[in-house]
Amino acid sequence: MKVARFSRIGFILAASGSAIGLGNIWKFPYITGKFGGGAFVLMYLVTVVLIGLSIMIAEMLIGYLGRADTVTSFEKLAPKNKQFWKYGGFQALAGLLVMIYYSVVIGWIFNYIVTSLSGLPSSVDEAKTIFSTMLHSDFKTQLFYHTVSFALITFVVARGIKGGIEKLNLVLMPMLFIIIGGMFLYATTLDSFHQAVEFMFKPDFSKIDSTAFVTAVGHAFFTLSLGMGAIMTYSASLEKGQNLVTSSIVVVIADTAIALLAGLMLFTFLYEYGGEPSSGPGLVFISLPAVFYQMGILGNVFAVMFFISLAFAGLTSAVSLVEPMIQYFIDRFSWSRIKASVLMGLFFYLVGIVAILSQLDSFSSYLTWENKNFFDWVDFFTATFMLPVGGLIMSIFVGYIMPKSQVEKVLRPQLGRAFDTWYFSLRYIAPISLVIVMLNLAGVIG
Ligand code: PHE
Repeated sequence: MKVARFSRIGFILAASGSAIGLGNIWKFPYITGKFGGGAFVLMYLVTVVLIGLSIMIAEMLIGYLGRADTVTSFEKLAPKNKQFWKYGGFQALAGLLVMIYYSVVIGWIFNYIVTSLSGLPSSVDEAKTIFSTMLHSDFKTQLFYHTVSFALITFVVARGIKGGIEKLNLVLMPMLFIIIGGMFLYATTLDSFHQAVEFMFKPDFSKIDSTAFVTAVGHAFFTLSLGMGAIMTYSASLEKGQNLVTSSIVVVIADTAIALLAGLMLFTFLYEYGGEPSSGPGLVFISLPAVFYQMGILGNVFAVMFFISLAFAGLTSAVSLVEPMIQYFIDRFSWSRIKASVLMGLFFYLVGIVAILSQLDSFSSYLTWENKNFFDWVDFFTATFMLPVGGLIMSIFVGYIMPKSQVEKVLRPQLGRAFDTWYFSLRYIAPISLVIVMLNLAGVIG
């Protein structure tokens, strides 16, 4: 089985790279804008601290002790009914499903890097036309960049944990921090910065309904890469004797910090140059380019840097989304890494084409059900259903199925007195909140 293992810093960067993704820079600002700011941010932060961190530690523990792909890890650690519990590992499938649209969005970002080099739209209307033309009628451009994205991701994962994934993260993550940090610092010098702070941190609960609640919890899972075995698969390649608790804390802090910095920066720019925080998924593709245009030549530089950082964030998450299923086929079916990488890649590549088609004017009517097209369904189903279910399975497995002594042996020394609080949160707070989310979700759909 695996020999190549992460170095300590490699693991922290790779796990942070997995967590920090399109979720932080693309999704978080637009859903925050959509649900009115402060109150939504507060619910998200509470979920991250109360549930996210506990489940992150649990997920790392399963990988760290299981030392294999997700299915094998569950099977190894279940004291009885192994045949049943191994299915817990199939949450890894969610990652591959997310990749269906994730790779398409990374493709849009590549396209925006290239087009921002030559010029930016001079108004929001123009930006809207550019974006919706790409989305609704330009199949070729989307296919081209989706292909580039597929090729890059497959190349990296085919090179393995050490030579591919760790190397990618060692290079891209520090650059991402520098770009976002630098742009954030610039934003703090603008007059509208305090307006952005107010929007994000002053809660207005009248904006909150059950959809907002389900979205906030779902997003907390998504942004921390929980519930689909990404963190678990990475921690299976961690050297023995590492501290899972400090690693989890570092990842959670880094992820939250980048989301908040990106949000504050984007909203500052929008307020300063007259964009709309509530403009939906097009926020970074429509409002932002028009805002950058207003900044003159600096705007061009910012636009290119911003989209490059978004691409970096996306790529480091993408490799962690495919890796669990690759590892599964390597461990359970003895596939070579190349074969597993190419086949998994082809899966998300080909189904991704269906996702692109589902947004095109000429095809969308065939690929839309209940007001959501195929692309939106995949996003909705994975983020609001599969991830919370994956999280629930994990909290139950570590909280009730694995013998407490086994859990305690590793985590008591690392958590100290906080062990009991963590264990309580894992056994009660996390599963109860997740069940509430799912009941709410049933209401939202029904
Ligand atoms: N956390 C990533 C993001 O915020 C997405 C992701 C989810 C990656 C689950 C891996 C596993 O974009």
